[in-house]
Amino acid sequence: MKKIHLIICFFLLSNFNSFAQKSNILSSVENIEIKVDSVLAMMTLEEKVGQLVQYNGSWDLTGPASEMNNQLKVANLKKGLVGSMLNVLSVEATLEAQKLVMENSRMKIPLMFGYDVIHGYKTIFPVPLGETASWDLELMEETARVAALESVAYGVNWTFSPMIDVSRDARWGRIMEGSGEDPYLTAQVGVSKIKGYQGDDLAKNTTIAATAKHFAGYGFAEAGRDYNTVNIGENELQNMVLPPFKAAAEAGVATFMNSFNDLDGTPATGNKMLQRDVLKGDWKWDGFVVSDWGSITEMVNHGFATNKKHAAEIAIKAGSDMDMEGGAYEVGLAELVKEGRLKEELIDDAVKRVLRVKFKLGLFEDPYRYSKPEVLNNINFEDHKKLAREAAKRSIVLLKNSDKILPVKSSVKKIAVIGPLANDKDSPLGNWRAQGETNSAVSVVEGLKNGIGESTEITFSEGTKLGTGERSFLMPLAINTTDRSGFQDAIEKATNADLVVMVLGEDAFQAGEGRSQANIGLAGLQMELFDTVHNVNSNIVLVLINGRPLEISEISKKATAIVEAWQLGSESGNAIADVLTGKYNPSGKLPASFPRAVGQEPLYYNEKNTGRPYNEEHVTYSHYTDVKKDALYPFGFGLSYATFQYGDIQLSSTQMDMEGNIKVSIRVTNTSKIPGKEVVQLYLRDLVASTTRPVKELKGFQMITLKPGETKSVTFSITKKMLEFYSANKKWEAEPGDFELYLGGNSVDVKSARFKLK
Ligand code: NOJ
Repeated sequence: MKKIHLIICFFLLSNFNSFAQKSNILSSVENIEIKVDSVLAMMTLEEKVGQLVQYNGSWDLTGPASEMNNQLKVANLKKGLVGSMLNVLSVEATLEAQKLVMENSRMKIPLMFGYDVIHGYKTIFPVPLGETASWDLELMEETARVAALESVAYGVNWTFSPMIDVSRDARWGRIMEGSGEDPYLTAQVGVSKIKGYQGDDLAKNTTIAATAKHFAGYGFAEAGRDYNTVNIGENELQNMVLPPFKAAAEAGVATFMNSFNDLDGTPATGNKMLQRDVLKGDWKWDGFVVSDWGSITEMVNHGFATNKKHAAEIAIKAGSDMDMEGGAYEVGLAELVKEGRLKEELIDDAVKRVLRVKFKLGLFEDPYRYSKPEVLNNINFEDHKKLAREAAKRSIVLLKNSDKILPVKSSVKKIAVIGPLANDKDSPLGNWRAQGETNSAVSVVEGLKNGIGESTEITFSEGTKLGTGERSFLMPLAINTTDRSGFQDAIEKATNADLVVMVLGEDAFQAGEGRSQANIGLAGLQMELFDTVHNVNSNIVLVLINGRPLEISEISKKATAIVEAWQLGSESGNAIADVLTGKYNPSGKLPASFPRAVGQEPLYYNEKNTGRPYNEEHVTYSHYTDVKKDALYPFGFGLSYATFQYGDIQLSSTQMDMEGNIKVSIRVTNTSKIPGKEVVQLYLRDLVASTTRPVKELKGFQMITLKPGETKSVTFSITKKMLEFYSANKKWEAEPGDFELYLGGNSVDVKSARFKLK
C-alpha cells in the first residue's frame, strides 16, 4: 500500500514539476521547496533520522574509528537509514554504495559523498594558507573549479572546504588549512572558493557542494592547541570570527560544518546561538550543518551531555543537522521524539535542509550523476598541472633578498641544493592532499634542473633527515635529532658551489589537524645543518617549505635571501625554480604574521591598541622585554625583484556622510628596470568607538602590474559598509567620528590620511 502511495506521489511530483517548468509559474527555488515537502511527507520518522546520519567509508579514516562495523553500515544503507557518506574514494565505490540505497531502500533518497578536498583532489595546489599568499581571487576560484572537476571524476559531490577559520596562532597546526589572520581576506578567499566549487549551478556534474567550516571559533584554540577551549568574547566573535562565515552564507554555500571546540562554555556543536539564532535565523541561510567528526558525541567528553542520546538532543535543538560518524543521532533522535522530549518539527527542518541540497545537486534526477567512470576521460590533467604551477609560483613570498642575490645571476655556475626537503617529492604536497599521490610533487632539485640552463651545474646533498620512519595523516613524523651522517657531504657540496640553495622547513604532516606545536622553529637538526653550511659558504638562498608561519629570527639574519615557498603542491619545484631564476617575479604577500619568537603567539597585525601602547621612557607599557613586540615579517609583507614607490594619498574629501562615499587614491611607481606585480592594501582604523577597535583592519586590496618606470593610480571607494563593526549596541553599524586610513604594500609600511564620518 505504502509503495503505491509512493509511486503516486512521485508521479504527481514529476508531472507537477514539468507543468511548472513549462508554464514558468514557479521559480526553481519554489519548485525545490515543493519537492522537498512532498518527499518529507512520505518519510517515516526512522527514515528522516537516517537522512541526518553520515557514515565514514572506512578505508580512509580522518578521525577516530567508530564502533560500527561495516556489515551494520551496509544493512543500514540498504534500509535507507543513511543520508551521506564520507571518504568513499572511487567512482566504483560511490556507485556501489549508491546502488545499495537506490536498489534496496523504500524511499530511494540518494546519498551525498563528502571528502576533504582541501587543495586539490589528484592535482595538488598550494595549501590554503600558501595559496592565500597569492591574494589572487580569480586564481583561487579557478583552482577550486578544477578541484571540483577532479572530485566529480572520482565520485565526490561534496567537499569539506573552504576552511574559513581566522587563525592567529602559528602553533595551531590547522593554520595551514585556512587563510590566516585577517577576516576580510579570509572572507574574500572563502567566497572565491565557494564560487569555484559550486559554480552557478550545483546540478552540473562539474560542480560540487562546498562547506564553510568550522563554525565557529575553532581557530582561536587556547595556546594554539588543537581542539582546545576557545575563550573569546562576543566582540571578538562578531568582529573577527563570524564575518567570513556570513560572507559564505551570502555566497550560497551549500553546507556548514560546526566545530569541535567549546566556545565560552558551550561546545560549538551544541551552540544554539551560533547555529539556530545567527546562521539560520539572522542570516536566513537554508543549507544544512554537518557536525565535525564525532563532535556531537564528544559533547559527553566536554561534560556537556550525559550520553550519546543526550548529546543528540542538545545538538539537534542547537541546529546541528547531520551527525558525522558519531552514532549519536541514530541511537538518540527517534527515541527522543517518541518519548516527547523532542519535537518532530526540528527533525523535519533538518531533513528538509538535507533534501534541499540533494535536489540542488540534481541527485533526485540522477542519483548516479557523480558516479560516471567516463567522466575521468575528459579530465585534462596536463592543463591542471599548468594551473598548479601557476598557482604555486604566485603563492611564493620573497621575504629577504640582500645584495640582490636573486634572481640567480648568469655568473653562477654551480649551485648546491642542500637540505632534508631539497629533493623531497612528498612534503610539498602538504597535509590534506586528498588523493594526490605520495611522492608525486616536483622537488626543488628537480625543478632547478628543469629550469636552469645547462651551463649551471646542480649538486644535491640532503645533509640530514628531518625525521625517521613512516608517517601519514594519522601518524606524525618522529623528528631526527641525532643523525648527522650527511653533514660532511653537505659541507663538501657547499664548499664547491657558487651559491647554496638550502631547502628547510616542515614535513608534509607537521602542520594540519592534530599537529599543534609548542615550538615553531626549524625542527630537528636543520638549524645546525644551516650553520654548518654557512660556515663554509655564506651565499645562501633559504627556501622554506612549511604549512605554518615559522620562528626564523636567527636564520633570517644569516641567510642572504629567504623564499617562503609553503607547501606548494604538485608543481612545487618548478614554481620555486621559476622564482629563483627570475622567470617569475615574486608577488606573494603574507596572510599571517611571522613572529620573532614563539612566545609572541598569537600574533596578528589587527590587534587592539591597549591602554599602554608605547612608551620608550618607561617599562610599564605593553611589550616584551626580551624581543620586539612586532612581527619579524608582518601581515601583507612580500618583496618583489622590482621596487615600488608609493606617492601621497589623495582624498576626494575629508568628510563623508552615511549615505556617501569618498575616493582615496595613491600613485604607485615601479622604480626598477623589470616589470612587477604589487598588491596595494587598504587598511582602516576607527579612532574612537563604542567598543575598542583594532589599530588597523584590511578593507580592500588591488593587484596591479607595472612596467619598468610605470606609474599607476590606484583608487578605492570608502563606503559606510567598510566602517561598520559590531558595536556596543550589539549590531553592525558605522559610528560617526574620525577614521585613519592607510595605503601601502604591507600592513606596516603605509601612507596615512584622516577623514570624518558624519
Ligand atoms: C575532522 C576535521 O576537523 C574536519 O575538518 C574534516 O572535514 C573532518 N574531520 C572529516 O575528515
